[in-house]
Amino acid sequence: MTTEQHITFTDWLHDSRRDHGTLPANLVQTLMVTAEACRRIGAAIGQGALAGVLGAAGSENVQGEDQKKLDVIANDILLQLHSDGSHLAGMASEEMDDPFPVPHPGSEGAYLLLFDPLDGSSNIDINAPVGTIFSVLPAPDGCDARDASVFLQPGSAQVAAGYAIYGPSTQFILTLGHGVHAFTLDRYSGELILTQENLTLPAQTQEFAINMSNQRFWEAPVQRYVADLLAGKTGPRAKDFNMRWVAAMVADVHRLLCRGGVFLYPLDSKMASKGGKLRLMYEANPMAWLVEQAGGQASTGQQRIMDIQPSGLHQRVPVMLGASEEIAELTRLHSA
Ligand code: F6P
Repeated sequence: MTTEQHITFTDWLHDSRRDHGTLPANLVQTLMVTAEACRRIGAAIGQGALAGVLGAAGSENVQGEDQKKLDVIANDILLQLHSDGSHLAGMASEEMDDPFPVPHPGSEGAYLLLFDPLDGSSNIDINAPVGTIFSVLPAPDGCDARDASVFLQPGSAQVAAGYAIYGPSTQFILTLGHGVHAFTLDRYSGELILTQENLTLPAQTQEFAINMSNQRFWEAPVQRYVADLLAGKTGPRAKDFNMRWVAAMVADVHRLLCRGGVFLYPLDSKMASKGGKLRLMYEANPMAWLVEQAGGQASTGQQRIMDIQPSGLHQRVPVMLGASEEIAELTRLHSA
């Protein structure tokens, strides 16, 4: 695939509809609205200090984390665009305690959208990559999207998942269950252009991503795994490993999809009562599906992430995803 062919996101969605007859028109519409929302969020981020959008909003989200102005702006853009003529029954977000039902006079919305509007928002003020992560689930017939329980479907029920990454370029990465595809924003035309089809994640790697400052709080299997990696060529893994940590899941997972690797945010004793750091419904599940679609694996160490039956909208889980050889080793250490 070369950029000269200039296949726009809209054209690609319509071609996918033709090639995979199961892609409904209202899902295509939902994805086009999501992509447009991401383009606008990227534009707000791109203006940075010029638009006065940096810094704290002076409020906290449901997780008790300080909200940045851009967290709130990104959330509002997604809510606003999807409320105007969308095919959603409802939305749920990291930034809102409760679901947001979308009114549909005389009809029903077919999908539920879950999102982290601005992942890695501590990177905003240092001009480093951030992103938007989203997951689309089917809306049960006749559901009332004010009821959080309608959203509590396992990751295996997702019909679309992806993220936008706002870095040196803005990219939109998507899976509909037929591989993982990358689109790059042409800032001159405002169009997303297909730049890579079928991203693949090699089974082997020599690169890992973890916040090493938490080392003393990890559980024994992760302590052992990372110690083996750090032992390098003369250790049990018999190869040297490199480490990278952007501190925005979206950017760390993007690196995996571009050049391989393994990403871990394991349980640690500081957050044991919360169940982990990352959120299942709008961080772990969409990223798990993308990684699996690229040929990798995604696990809590004990269980495939996409098999978890959710118990709460903002549930947190341990996350280990990436190169299948590494996830197999982590799973083996957890069951030993
Ligand atoms: O959503 C939480 C998040 O910002 C992730 O994007 C990222 O992987 C992680 O937190 C960074 O955590 P830490 O502060 O431990 O580096």
